[in-house]
Amino acid sequence: MHRIIAKEQLSDEVFRFVVEAPLIARERRPGQFVILQLDSDYGERIPLTIADADAEAGTITLIFQTVGKTTHLLAERQVGDEIRHILGPLGKPTHIERFGTVVCVGGGIGAAPLYPIAQAMKQAGNRLIVILGARTHGLLILEKEMQAIADELLICTDDGSYGEKGLVTEPLRRLCAGAKPDLVVAIGPPIMMKACAEVTREFNVPIVVSLNTIMVDGTGMCGGCRVTVGKETKFVCVDGPEFDGHLVDFDNMMLRMRAYKEIEEKAHQEYHCRLNPELNRLRQYENT
Ligand SMILES: Cc1cc2nc3c(=O)[nH]c(=O)nc-3n(C[C@H](O)[C@H](O)[C@H](O)COP(=O)(O)OP(=O)(O)OC[C@H]3O[C@@H](n4cnc5c(N)ncnc54)[C@H](O)[C@@H]3O)c2cc1C
Ligand code: FES
Repeated sequence: MHRIIAKEQLSDEVFRFVVEAPLIARERRPGQFVILQLDSDYGERIPLTIADADAEAGTITLIFQTVGKTTHLLAERQVGDEIRHILGPLGKPTHIERFGTVVCVGGGIGAAPLYPIAQAMKQAGNRLIVILGARTHGLLILEKEMQAIADELLICTDDGSYGEKGLVTEPLRRLCAGAKPDLVVAIGPPIMMKACAEVTREFNVPIVVSLNTIMVDGTGMCGGCRVTVGKETKFVCVDGPEFDGHLVDFDNMMLRMRAYKEIEEKAHQEYHCRLNPELNRLRQYENT
């Protein structure tokens, strides 16, 4: 069991939890993630990036967006409550070195997994430029934290409510067309990572993306997180989550991510429909 030590709401849909997990806190490195399960052994298992960790306090930080049933249930938890299972650290750590100038691009909740990577890139002596994008100002997260570590911070919102109006690819294109960066790291929705990969390809700038496929076991056994990278089949949980963005087949990835859409929507609707007595009875049974 893992106790929730702190809870903070960062935006309309985003929460930051600090959770007890001493062994994971000690071992984790930037780019790695955990798979958590809220209650019963039959509940959904969801992957979340370790946004930060304190090895001395034995805690990890998770930043998540409420999108479906499990993330909504997680957001209801309070300080002192427990999460039954947390598995990790999983995935290969980010390759960190002194590349020169590194541009880190975060779209929406992608800023959360990006933060530990940006921090490590800065600590390795890189000049760090961060581009943060969100649909609207209320959904922008980690601005202060990124400001504290970046040499330059550029902000875009789709609706122009804050920063530059437009998509993250616009400042990225300007940077690539100017004094070319040595590396781009992009994390966000698949469509955004695909667009960033197209821009960097044009300018021959290397790009690393962190893929957020559906995951089940997180050990390379179930095949749920399968992606095609450079015409080879890879498992995001054990071969990734980071890959060369120029080699990822994003269209195939997006197609596979839509596979459970109907079931996910049903679970989400049922979550919002708590007056249904049969459902409540089943949920109580599941939690015993
Ligand atoms: C390695 C990895 C690290 C991740 N790190 C974070 C993180 O730090 N913070 C965070 O908020 N999210 C992160 N995600 C995404 C997170 O796992 C999903 O948002 C979560 O599983 C959704 O669960 P749910 O039951 O609430 O919603 P579901 O009902 O399962 O899904 C609801 C909606 O979200 C979409 N969705 C489902 N799974 C994903 C996914 N993996 N990525 C993108 N969209 C998805 C579905 O298409 C659907 O539209 C990460 C994913 C991976 C693979
Ligand atoms: S989550 Fe099962 S193989 Fe990766």
